[in-house]
Amino acid sequence: MNDPNGLIRLDSVWHMFFQHHPDGIDHDDIHWGHAVSHDLLSWEERPIALAPDQMGTCFSGSAVETPDGDVKIFYTAHSLTPEGRDHQVQCLVHADRSLTKSARDYRNPILPNPGREAFRDPKVIWHEQTSRWIMLVTLGQEIGIYSSTDLVDWRFESRFGEADISYRGGVWECPDLLRFDDGDGGEVWVLIVGVQSGAANGGSGTMYFIGDFDGQRFENHGDPDQMLWMDRGRDFYAAQGFFDRAGGEPVVMAWISNWDYARETPTKAFRGVMSLPRILSLVNTPKGRRLRQNLPEQVLNKLKSSSVSSGTYGFAKTFEMVEGDRTAILLFGSETPQFVLSRKAAATGVIHCHRDEHPDMQNFGHDLSIEFDWPMEETLELQFYVDRGVVELSAMDGTLWVTNLFYPEDPGGEVRILPNKNTTTQLKEIVHG
Ligand code: FRU
Repeated sequence: MNDPNGLIRLDSVWHMFFQHHPDGIDHDDIHWGHAVSHDLLSWEERPIALAPDQMGTCFSGSAVETPDGDVKIFYTAHSLTPEGRDHQVQCLVHADRSLTKSARDYRNPILPNPGREAFRDPKVIWHEQTSRWIMLVTLGQEIGIYSSTDLVDWRFESRFGEADISYRGGVWECPDLLRFDDGDGGEVWVLIVGVQSGAANGGSGTMYFIGDFDGQRFENHGDPDQMLWMDRGRDFYAAQGFFDRAGGEPVVMAWISNWDYARETPTKAFRGVMSLPRILSLVNTPKGRRLRQNLPEQVLNKLKSSSVSSGTYGFAKTFEMVEGDRTAILLFGSETPQFVLSRKAAATGVIHCHRDEHPDMQNFGHDLSIEFDWPMEETLELQFYVDRGVVELSAMDGTLWVTNLFYPEDPGGEVRILPNKNTTTQLKEIVHG
């Protein structure tokens, strides 16, 4: 599986669809899988929701609930031209409230291809102020913004992309646009975009822009020369927010992998996995406004009370380090430290992430170093959330996240911490829960 799709909260149930190849481990013959959850932590798989038809395979998209209680799903039908080029169009599906029965609209495609090879990932949101639906779509290295009153006829409004900033990378995929209160009775909008290649830490990554949206145009208020990344690890991609007509806080989930190596990960099970859900808010930091991502309370509590042997657990550790000091954190009983934290200068910390070099895998990027601001009070609490082969690490009250795949030898093994420079010291501390 890859991207989360059609995230929606309906009748208090969280629904997640996802990019899925039911009959193989490679990215091919893409369907929409479906899973449901009551707590955003354990998911139960349901039957396939969308299967390829004469229009093509079913690439990423979204779902909304209308004021009448109807559920509409949008996806990209992907096919190949006789010359072998990608052809992508946007399609509409009508679903029942259990999301188990659906019918495709006879007018599909509702948005034909405007002459772009990359034209996909329709994300539909409701824009209260103009009482219109907004669709964001990948248009190569930019995002197209469309509007509609009936979810069938769409009008092109504007685009936002590489021409508006100095960053250059790969195709801009899986956009989302989330609204926040600015605390003064106004609103702030955050545009989330996945770049398929050329992200800060190599390969695919998720950037965000903070600005204004008037129902037609997104205006970036951030520095056009400085990109903001939702996660500084290698594996947090295609992030999407849940549609929630009840108006809950913005919750996002992402696919934990990277197109640099997603097709080569050395495993059959666990080949594609989702991140934990993260609740988003905006905070002011000395460097300006930033996204803060925190786990929902019930998810946090469950993870912190689970034991290491369950393979899925969370723990926090506070570090106090002087400049030049090093602390190694070993996970899963490996003798190779997988996280090494160091303090480089008075106000700079570095996290080195090491991943075992698996002989079957090229480009896995086993050594990644991430620089961040060390907090003024000189101690740093790191929160680790582990799910067998995945570590999601958060620091600085959720403004820094590092998510990486590991493929450990022993996924249920001990978590061990080496408190000082000597990474071969006998291990003293075992952290439970
Ligand atoms: C992002 C993506 C989307 C596309 C889907 C295909 O990971 O490349 O742009 O719709 O995956 O599975």
